Amino acid sequence: MSLKMNKVNKPKNTRTVAILTGATGGIGKAIAKQLVTEDATLILVGRNLESLEQVAKDLITDKHCSGKVYNCATDITKAEGRHYLAEFITTINEQVNMLINGAGINDFNLFEQQSSDLISQMMHVNCTSPMLLIHELYSYFKKQPAAQIINIGSTFGSIGYPGYSSYCASKFALRGFTESLSRESADTNIKVRYFSPRATSTPINSNAVIEMNKELNVNMDSPEEVARQFCQFIKTDDNSMYLGWPEKLQVKINQLFPTIVGNAIIKTLPIIKKYAQIKLF
Ligand SMILES: NC(=O)c1ccc[n+]([C@@H]2O[C@H](COP(=O)([O-])OP(=O)(O)OC[C@H]3O[C@@H](n4cnc5c(N)ncnc54)[C@H](OP(=O)(O)O)[C@@H]3O)[C@@H](O)[C@H]2O)c1
Repeated sequence: MSLKMNKVNKPKNTRTVAILTGATGGIGKAIAKQLVTEDATLILVGRNLESLEQVAKDLITDKHCSGKVYNCATDITKAEGRHYLAEFITTINEQVNMLINGAGINDFNLFEQQSSDLISQMMHVNCTSPMLLIHELYSYFKKQPAAQIINIGSTFGSIGYPGYSSYCASKFALRGFTESLSRESADTNIKVRYFSPRATSTPINSNAVIEMNKELNVNMDSPEEVARQFCQFIKTDDNSMYLGWPEKLQVKINQLFPTIVGNAIIKTLPIIKKYAQIKLF
């Protein structure tokens, strides 16, 4: 028996109606802005109502905005917050057909200096919470004609990097989960996908990271560029998209020959450790 693989292809004239977590963040805001200029309806999710209202106001007052925006202030790291979101989408008169898991945290630091609370939180915000949110909403999406779930990963979900051990662990786990669920959902109406930005200029990166990236000649994208690529990605049938050269090549080489990439990274370890141990404001 052959499996009928799902396609992203939406029925014609179906508008994107998307839940966006991390909507108040640098990448989230840029994705929201791009999507509403393409007629999408958005349910912006974040913990702080005031910040959400500001994002929504900026979106709907933009002359290019042709979409619609709802705010849902809730904490998706808590069970009651995820239930609230699931209830919320049944109260608006919309058929939600996309979930974008964009909320995330980072802490550039040496592993031994990180608090155990922060290590747990990193795994929870970046991996466990998106998994549990998908679990909460999966039956809703199964009832839609077609749906997409897009998890925002990172280059650090494919390459282990000093100073980012906990972050890498959370994003590697998110990537593994996405790949598995994508295959498990292949005979359903739900397409599960992974979108992997490289370093991007947003508040998630401390000044130490920005200075280190300059010294190491690491490229940093603008959130607008990431959003532009994101909007291209959701129109394709691809399971994943990795941004940036040389990062996407390094991801491939790291899979096949991890020692080559590892040796190159280890050469820069003194620089990484220097920035991981100083606090720049
Ligand atoms: N910037 C980069 O260099 C980069 C590179 C690759 C991948 N990424 C990924 O892209 C996504 C967006 O990152 P960004 O750069 O836009 O970061 P950002 O500007 O710091 O925004 C992070 C977002 O996550 C939410 N968030 C933070 N802590 C949270 C918590 N404890 N519980 C729930 N939500 C929380 C925040 O929402 P509220 O505080 O309003 O709830 C905020 O909207 C993340 O998944 C990140 O890992 C970023």
